[in-house]
Amino acid sequence: MLHSPQSDDGRGLALQVEGLRLSYPMADGRELAVLDIPAWRLPAGAAIGIAGASGSGKTSLLHLLAGIERPTAGRVRWGGTDITALSESARDRWRRLHVGLVFQDFHLIPGMSAEENVLMPAWLDHVRAPGRLTARAAELIAQVGLNDQRRQPVARMSRGQQQRVALARALLRDPAIILADEPTASLDRDGAGRVGNLLLDLAGRSGATLIVISHDQDLLARLPRQVKLEAGRSLAP
Ligand SMILES: Nc1ncnc2c1ncn2[C@@H]1O[C@H](COP(=O)(O)OP(=O)(O)OP(=O)(O)O)[C@@H](O)[C@H]1O
Ligand SMILES: [Mg+2]
Repeated sequence: MLHSPQSDDGRGLALQVEGLRLSYPMADGRELAVLDIPAWRLPAGAAIGIAGASGSGKTSLLHLLAGIERPTAGRVRWGGTDITALSESARDRWRRLHVGLVFQDFHLIPGMSAEENVLMPAWLDHVRAPGRLTARAAELIAQVGLNDQRRQPVARMSRGQQQRVALARALLRDPAIILADEPTASLDRDGAGRVGNLLLDLAGRSGATLIVISHDQDLLARLPRQVKLEAGRSLAP
């Protein structure tokens, strides 16, 4: 079961990356090569940490895996779906269905409360969030330790509080794929431990495939596998 490529019942999806390259045009007309990953595979339900120096391409990689950006070349397959072959709107739909993404810079809506931000993904699909999602949002907000702040606009929250709202939002719909970009960067040791517990427990229980980018040695050590990205290279297949 662990190696099945696809599941439609909440379990993780396997990842298969081939010939993945990302480059950006520079001001002088040359190309800046950001990522070059010939092959990389993860079985469904795997949990892995990615470390690497600032600028090594970690966030770029996560955005390619989430289908937010398109690679310059290569394929990203999740389960049976080659997301690089999808149109932008099909990728957006695919992402809403399968991916919980914790952005490095949170991407919260400042004027909305913690609760409203967490429910935001549900509002994209329903005019009103179904009761079970409202209950799930409350549960996640409590689990990240923000029960008392749930009605507060996120603009008036600390960065660490905002980071926890972003995590709760990513986990709202029990995604088959959880991608987290330095999810403990703004937290103290206690908060980081709590976020680590939540990520690992939830992924473990639901069987989601979990990819965590981090510099946090405690968090990395809790993941069964770690890899290092060096100048956009060397993720072992
Ligand atoms: N839109 C863009 N246009 C041009 N260059 C970009 C763009 N986005 C990222 N880059 C470049 O790609 C490289 C990798 O950036 P990325 O944000 O993926 O690094 P990172 O490993 O996540 O770093 P950090 O640890 O600081 O978050 C950097 O050299 C960055 O300048
Ligand atoms: Mg980054």
